[in-house]
Amino acid sequence: MSQNLLFTNDVATALGDLVKDAAPATIHVVADENTARLVVPRLGLPAADVITIPPGDDAKNLDTLASIWAHLVENGATRSSLTVNVGGGMVTDIGGMAAATFKRGMRFINLPTTLLGAVDAAVGGKTGINFHGLKNEIGVFAPADAVIISTCFFDTLPHHELLSGYAEMIKHALLTDGREYRRLIGSDVTRIDAAEMLSMLHDSVMVKKRIVDEDPREKGLRRALNLGHTVGHALESFSHECHAPLPHGYAVAYGLLAEMI
Ligand code: GLY
Repeated sequence: MSQNLLFTNDVATALGDLVKDAAPATIHVVADENTARLVVPRLGLPAADVITIPPGDDAKNLDTLASIWAHLVENGATRSSLTVNVGGGMVTDIGGMAAATFKRGMRFINLPTTLLGAVDAAVGGKTGINFHGLKNEIGVFAPADAVIISTCFFDTLPHHELLSGYAEMIKHALLTDGREYRRLIGSDVTRIDAAEMLSMLHDSVMVKKRIVDEDPREKGLRRALNLGHTVGHALESFSHECHAPLPHGYAVAYGLLAEMI
């Protein structure tokens, strides 16, 4: 799976270079209401058309997907256009699916703004929406042309969001050697400086990339990335039913514990 992964905190320059190389017919940014306000103005894309969707996993549905397609049609997108998905996993999942299916596939770049999105959802080509009460029930494998991984948007993330991403980093570390695990366990991810975090994020994402390169469509090896998720998803679904939602990474962390006992 060819996916250009860029690790940098100079996001505007990286994005500008990618857009220049892509020379798209039109540029469309998919962002949620938070990232449209807080992040998109920092990207230096004055000519881009911004498609704003509601935040949160409940909006990762067919109606929101259709609203993105409609916006693309009404704003002159063609197969030579480019979409830039700016947000957490919800935005990169649904924005990726919109791009992968519009006109049978247009190019897209993922710009994850959460630790969880950067370490997992934005990388590896899984796109999709929730359907019929089931998470990620409809989707396609479609790798972003590029993923810009940066830590410069994490300073506004709530504590539980950082810990959620940390749980997925622990999962990756458990799938590799003990050195990576010890480094992670020895650091406080909520206090770490941007450069050190970017380096840890790089090592973590490369664990996923190596697995996805070998098994992009999850026929075997990639299932290892679901470590902690069987129990984790059950806990997460139950917590939603009880109207006391557990952040995804917390559910995964409990799942890791349960599955390793
Ligand atoms: N989140 C697991 C995977 O991308 O395969």
